[in-house]
Amino acid sequence: MAEYLAGKNIVLGVTGGIAAYKAVEVASRLRKLGAEVHVIMTRAAQEFVTELTFREISGNPVNTGMWEKVLHWNVEHIALARLADLVLVVPATANLVAKLAAGMADDMLTTTILATQAPVFLAPAMNSNMYTNPVTQENLEKLKARGMRILPPASGHLACGIDGVGRLPEPVEIVSCVKAHFSAVCSLRGRKILVTAGGTIAPIDPVRFLGNRSSGKMGYRIAEEAAKRGAEVVLVSGVSALPDPEGVRTVRVETTEEMRSAVLQDFPDADAVIKAAAVADYRVKHVSEQKIKKSDGEWTIELERNPDILYELGRMKKHQVLVGFAAETQNLMEYAKKKLEKKNLDFIVANDVTMPGAGFRGETNIARLMFRDGKVEEHPLMKKAELAAIILDRVEEILPCG
Ligand SMILES: Cc1cc2nc3c(=O)[nH]c(=O)nc-3n(C[C@H](O)[C@H](O)[C@H](O)COP(=O)(O)O)c2cc1C
Repeated sequence: MAEYLAGKNIVLGVTGGIAAYKAVEVASRLRKLGAEVHVIMTRAAQEFVTELTFREISGNPVNTGMWEKVLHWNVEHIALARLADLVLVVPATANLVAKLAAGMADDMLTTTILATQAPVFLAPAMNSNMYTNPVTQENLEKLKARGMRILPPASGHLACGIDGVGRLPEPVEIVSCVKAHFSAVCSLRGRKILVTAGGTIAPIDPVRFLGNRSSGKMGYRIAEEAAKRGAEVVLVSGVSALPDPEGVRTVRVETTEEMRSAVLQDFPDADAVIKAAAVADYRVKHVSEQKIKKSDGEWTIELERNPDILYELGRMKKHQVLVGFAAETQNLMEYAKKKLEKKNLDFIVANDVTMPGAGFRGETNIARLMFRDGKVEEHPLMKKAELAAIILDRVEEILPCG
């Protein structure tokens, strides 16, 4: 993927957080991928890491303030804002986030960000109380709404001694977001991605069926994103009112058995399978050929198990990356872990469908990604399209080369 960053000018802002040292690895990885890295350090950042370290790692002069003499090039204060193909801030302190939300420009970094037309990515990292503080959340929302991309912090043990959300994502993850940004049109070229979406139904008679509330939105967004990245995409869709996504071969099915046979047909040469469909686990044992007439008494419908498509795929899989979804209303992570193991998945996207903003119908989701090594990534409320991009970034990282 090195060619995607060749010649790209990335302005790396470093602010005064305890995770500033991790920005050194980010700079190093970006440079190895061919990017020109131009570091801007805030005054506070220089308390944590030296300018010399970034100068050596980036191979470029480091900007440490607006008022110092610039020895290496003849710059005016917004030169880097113009030059940048992307501005990336690692870590982004609560203070920086607040200053940006207020539109301030009191140092080189904030001035550059205010002046640039390039995309801006922020990787906030801080104590979890600072992060969850409503004022920080409001500031982040404001920045998101203005088009900045916020790389969500991870959960775990923080330098301040407590466990919680606010940890900087690993440098490799930050760099993969940057790569995905520049390679958005071709990072999945030559790959075949099979996606399932929507709900399957269990017919009772010619006019009635049992169904679920799935809208298909999450899977459709994934199919669209995979197509944008150049993949050959097959979308096996259960019931959904959404139109066929552009550039995607969409196969419409209704029942779980129909979904199973469509999926099995495209599974062998798929590179990755993402099963976002809400599959009916049970079917009606005796489906009536004629409409069942109502009567006065109670009506009992006997159900039998449908095949477990994901389980079968997990058994059959060879080279394929396999991703499942767990939409639960209780014991989310416990169920997700069991499903991950039982179905031999590479990772699972777990969401608690009772949370406001998560689940079936809306345009947003709140998800946790759980991996085979036990690692869990928390993704706060975001658009389904954004979550689709994250899911595909992870798939790309797991896909074997070639
Ligand atoms: C030891 C130490 C660690 C800090 N870690 C963080 C941090 O991880 N995240 C954060 O938002 N602020 C952190 N701060 C507070 C910032 O350094 C402070 O808000 C500073 O004004 C940020 O300036 P800047 O945003 O211009 O870099 C820390 C301060 C100290 C003394």
